Amino acid sequence: MTDDPTAGLRARFAATIGGGRPSPWRDAFAAVPRHLFVPSFFRQDGRGEWRRVTAVDDGYAEAVYSDTALTTQLDAGGIPSSSSSEPSTMLAMLDALGAESGHAVFELGTGTGYNAALLAHRLGAENVTSVDVDPGLVDLAVRRLGEYGTRPYVTAGDGALGCPERAPFDRIIATAALREIQPALLEQAAVGAVIVAPIGFGIVRATVSKPGHAEGRFLPIPALFMPRRTPGSDPDFESLRQQAPERTTVPVTDVLERLKFPLSLALPGYNSCSWQDAAGTVTAVGLWTDDGSTALADTTGQARQTGPHRLWDTVEHLASAFPTGSPPREAFGITASPAGRHIWYGEPEGPGWKVRADAP
Ligand SMILES: C[S@@+](CC[C@H](N)C(=O)[O-])C[C@H]1O[C@@H](n2cnc3c(N)ncnc32)[C@H](O)[C@@H]1O
Repeated sequence: MTDDPTAGLRARFAATIGGGRPSPWRDAFAAVPRHLFVPSFFRQDGRGEWRRVTAVDDGYAEAVYSDTALTTQLDAGGIPSSSSSEPSTMLAMLDALGAESGHAVFELGTGTGYNAALLAHRLGAENVTSVDVDPGLVDLAVRRLGEYGTRPYVTAGDGALGCPERAPFDRIIATAALREIQPALLEQAAVGAVIVAPIGFGIVRATVSKPGHAEGRFLPIPALFMPRRTPGSDPDFESLRQQAPERTTVPVTDVLERLKFPLSLALPGYNSCSWQDAAGTVTAVGLWTDDGSTALADTTGQARQTGPHRLWDTVEHLASAFPTGSPPREAFGITASPAGRHIWYGEPEGPGWKVRADAP
């Protein structure tokens, strides 16, 4: 380990991520070589083309030991399908998880295996279970974890179904965006368990108070995890054109900026796009969800909507609930129970909305 040329970079990285605040996870970040789990990554060049960066390229080690999310896999269409998350976000999630030695931990989204290695380093490999939907990634992660010298239980499957043969879990961490706290995860959580998961553009920390019942607030930090892509998620701009325009006073930029987080909770998995004029000013914004519901609004104050859900009505509703500024993330929370999932603002009894069930 002493002749590891990255040792100095790694020590600095481990000491400084997350602003250097005290954390029981810093030793793990100092010990686990991220470069072993990310031997290469993809970076976009000036023209938006993805280029692979490996250890022989300038800046590789500096990038690996920086607070940067690194894209590690592209799908057939050139869209990122796996990454090593931003280390400061990983640290914040691990801190929020509050895992202690001996806790059985379930990770949804093995990816490179780096987070599983951090968990195994601090908690013991025998306590760590990690699942990724992509069998190729699982094979690679198992190999790299073995090279590092640790053997957590890693398997391929839909992490939303948990891992019944290894349950119950004291801690559950998801590193891929969920739309809700999945029922199977809740069933496999021990009473007292903590669940940390990206939902919408935020990260929730919920505690299981009794079987099948979890509740908690969002962390104050932003999070941008890749949304799970689902079939049939194209916007229906064609039928939108046939809809009569409605008047709206909500500025289109609200959708892209100050209402972005609450919108991601109210419309799980929504997509958006925007149009700009030659000066780069946003002139219109489009929204759609995977049931084909589509809305479009422009800076002339016209909105059109089509499909089973009136998406612009949700924007209007949020704009009247939060007339100025961005509501603080940590004021939002989730309650998950056998009766369903409920996102709330302020207090669990406060204003809120039911989460539409996620497809497994
Ligand atoms: C941000 S990456 C995970 C990073 C990983 N924890 C690491 O340390 O490298 C998200 C991963 O979630 C996986 N994923 C997406 N949907 C999933 C699902 N339903 N079940 C399990 N894994 C899933 C993706 O294949 C991807 O590898």
